[in-house]
Amino acid sequence: MFTSECLSVNQKGHLAIGGCDSVELAEQYGTPLYVMDEGTIRKNAAVYRESIKKYYGGNGMVLYASKALSCKEIYRILRQEGLGIDVVSEGEIYTALAAGFPASKMYFHGNNKTPTELKFALENHVGRIVVDNLTELLLLDRLSGQAGAATEILLRIKPGISAHTHSFIRTGQIDSKFGLALENGEAEEAVKQAAGCRHLRLIGVHCHIGSQIFEIAPFALAAEVMVNFIADITEKYGVQIRELDLGGGFGVRYVAAQKAVAYDAYMREVSQAVRAACEKRHLPLPAVLIEPGRSMVADAGITLYTVGTVKKIPGIRTYVAVDGGMTDNPRHALYDAQYEVVVANRAASDRTQAVTIAGKCCESGDIIQEDVRIPETEPGDTLAVLTTGAYNYSMASNYNRIPRPAMVMIRKGSPRLIVRRETDEDLVRNDL
Ligand code: LLP
Repeated sequence: MFTSECLSVNQKGHLAIGGCDSVELAEQYGTPLYVMDEGTIRKNAAVYRESIKKYYGGNGMVLYASKALSCKEIYRILRQEGLGIDVVSEGEIYTALAAGFPASKMYFHGNNKTPTELKFALENHVGRIVVDNLTELLLLDRLSGQAGAATEILLRIKPGISAHTHSFIRTGQIDSKFGLALENGEAEEAVKQAAGCRHLRLIGVHCHIGSQIFEIAPFALAAEVMVNFIADITEKYGVQIRELDLGGGFGVRYVAAQKAVAYDAYMREVSQAVRAACEKRHLPLPAVLIEPGRSMVADAGITLYTVGTVKKIPGIRTYVAVDGGMTDNPRHALYDAQYEVVVANRAASDRTQAVTIAGKCCESGDIIQEDVRIPETEPGDTLAVLTTGAYNYSMASNYNRIPRPAMVMIRKGSPRLIVRRETDEDLVRNDL
């Protein structure tokens, strides 16, 4: 019935997540509230981890892309699951370190890492830096020299594949702010220059072709392009590339109309492409890394709200306004993102009307979902927006000075608070 296995309807007719009554959670912790199911996160982590064992003989690693959801508890859980992480800012590195995550399993990404961030990463012995451009390459070499470090790096390559949710094209997709292009020789130039950097060791290459992609073919094609690049630079420059990082991007089922995605099958098919390309070029299989973000946490999360007002505009639409909005979930406003919405205290009732779920910000575009079918609803109802585990809390803001919600993690039917609700005091903490 629901897009995520951790959701069900209990005997009271309430939506339950991980066996917990969502209406009771809303009463206990207040709304808006992010709720995550730990078992689902661990299950997702295990699928990816096992696929590295099965399809690459264990020669590789799963890096969780922390931008999807970054807070201490997620790092603790994924550390226990044996994963590494993709980090993109000093803030993400700091949070992961604060949670005791080993720096050696962090891969630092970003198209414009500041000197301060790079120094912070070096001081804290972050395992790998994924170098995005030639300016960064030379800067990192200098900073590594100053720090007395021999820094292991990967190069971020644009493989020239432009993938969208349901289609992909192979273009000279040179127009991206991320990475080094293949077709104009920029990537090769970086390999040459890296060889001259005394404080850097080029050990890998990386690509990431997009997010929320449902097809397997673009991933397989990207893998082939990357293996060919490794083979080319090995032959030409004698470099030894040990790591092939294929990024993230696997699609997630947000609404029932989308198909469920079997991540193990994605991994199997991509591994076949990697192996075939390596055999063709007589290249030993490198360690293969993947960076799932969305597909690790999205289906583990829901957001609970309280309905405040219901505004029926005859012949036009009905606005159901909740006590959160684009401040805790900007994805519809930004990307027209789709979500399923459930009246949590009447979860089994017929969906008799199409409504627009609006937030409380002073802005017409503050919409969580348009024309979504739900049962009759009234002020005081608990509304659940499903599949909000990724890119919701991590993209939340304090627009209109609205405090960010709390987050609760469910383990084996018991909830625990993992992120406190922001207070008014938090809002003025940095004001002088
Ligand atoms: N690796 C790199 C280098 C990335 O840039 C990203 C996502 C990932 C991995 C993880 O991709 P995923 O498995 O989550 O698709 N805010 C947008 C998504 C932006 C994704 C940016 N990069 C959204 O809410 O849809």
